[in-house]
Amino acid sequence: MTKNSKTLRLQELDKLYVWHPFTQMKDWVEDHPLIIESGDGVFLQDTDGKKYLDGVSSLWVTVHGHRKKALDRSLTRQLKKIAHSTLLGLANVPSIELAKELIQIAPKGLTKVFYSDNGSTAVEVALKMAYQYWQHIEPGSQRTKFISFREDYHGDTLGSVSVGGMDLFHRIFKPLLFDVIHFPSPYFFRNKDATNPLIQKMEEVMVQNKNRIIGVVMEPLIQAAAGMLLHPNGFLKAVRKLCDRHNILLIVDEVATGFGRTGKMFACEHEKVTPDLMAVAKGMTGGYLPLAATLVKEKIYNAFLGEYSQFKTFFHGHTYTGNPLACAVALESLRLFKKEKLLKKVQKNIVFLKKELVRFNRLSHVKEIRQCGMMVGIELEKFLLREKMGIKVCQQARKYGAILRPLGNVIVLMPPLAIQQKELQMLLEMTCQAIVDVIERD
Ligand SMILES: Cc1ncc(COP(=O)(O)O)c(C=O)c1O
Repeated sequence: MTKNSKTLRLQELDKLYVWHPFTQMKDWVEDHPLIIESGDGVFLQDTDGKKYLDGVSSLWVTVHGHRKKALDRSLTRQLKKIAHSTLLGLANVPSIELAKELIQIAPKGLTKVFYSDNGSTAVEVALKMAYQYWQHIEPGSQRTKFISFREDYHGDTLGSVSVGGMDLFHRIFKPLLFDVIHFPSPYFFRNKDATNPLIQKMEEVMVQNKNRIIGVVMEPLIQAAAGMLLHPNGFLKAVRKLCDRHNILLIVDEVATGFGRTGKMFACEHEKVTPDLMAVAKGMTGGYLPLAATLVKEKIYNAFLGEYSQFKTFFHGHTYTGNPLACAVALESLRLFKKEKLLKKVQKNIVFLKKELVRFNRLSHVKEIRQCGMMVGIELEKFLLREKMGIKVCQQARKYGAILRPLGNVIVLMPPLAIQQKELQMLLEMTCQAIVDVIERD
């Protein structure tokens, strides 16, 4: 079979059998989907042998690059022992070692790890734990409400959609969602100081709803999926103080920001905040396997302790929870962070990015450039969504050899943390040229 006929056959089969996530399949089947067959470092390779720079870390997960030898080896080592055994009623070696390691690197005060397998579920777990926490410590508690922010994204399961602030999802799934007190996005208050009107408004609502609020759920520092919307400096810390003052839990979703994306291991570290519950996923395995976790303070864990007959058990758990393969590769990824001094190296990339992003300022159709560590959003001017400008730019970038995925009119750059500067330079050039080709030309 020639290379090309192999691609054609796979494209046909894909259209026949696969339903892609967050994808209008009517458009998809009229297109010629790119089929990735292999990867190496920051590059992906398709079935025709063409290489592409992975500009969004395969949906924000790849940390050290693809086919990193140490990660590959950790998987084969673990495979020689066991691929899977359950955490329901049994323990396994890598999940224990990883939990210990996670607690060592997590914000001080988080002491227990509850595993799951994707970001949405890690948040869902946090919501259920937080709700039950109050039921356990204040029997008959009236605490049924969460506070969150518009434009937050916490995943696509019903609980995480409820606390999320995506208008579209709320319109579609309204009858299935629970009520949440949503405040405006902190992004719109970014030019105010930390005691800004948003914090004041939140405080008023906390006072009015005394003993009715379970917790505040938020993405720290940046609302990623909303298009990399930056928070005002000190906002997370100000919310932490509010929660402390009003005896409300703080649930931080580090699914996108965790594992070095913002330049520190966790975004919370920038403002020296320890949440009561913290959800992590995405980069946890270096981008190799699905794994997530909800890390909690000892007081949360302790509230669930009791006699068997009291039913204080946390009734939640999935079949692949704490999968040994996923935990083994996550453990190796954390070792690599240390061994390769990745967080130190990434600082250079962050500075380089900041300097080089200036080129986009010269483009007349670029409205704003936002950066938080290795997370970048280049917002195009307000085109109608149906004009698909973001999509067109990313399609054009693909012709130059970069894989990008837009968020509406925002072009996202989130390459693997270990990317070399010359590769980063290539990514920026391809992206810039794609914007010029699609928008600036006329
Ligand atoms: C902040 C945040 N939380 C949760 C999620 C959901 O993660 P997953 O897609 O792994 O369920 C995402 C995904 O982009 C995210 O960015």
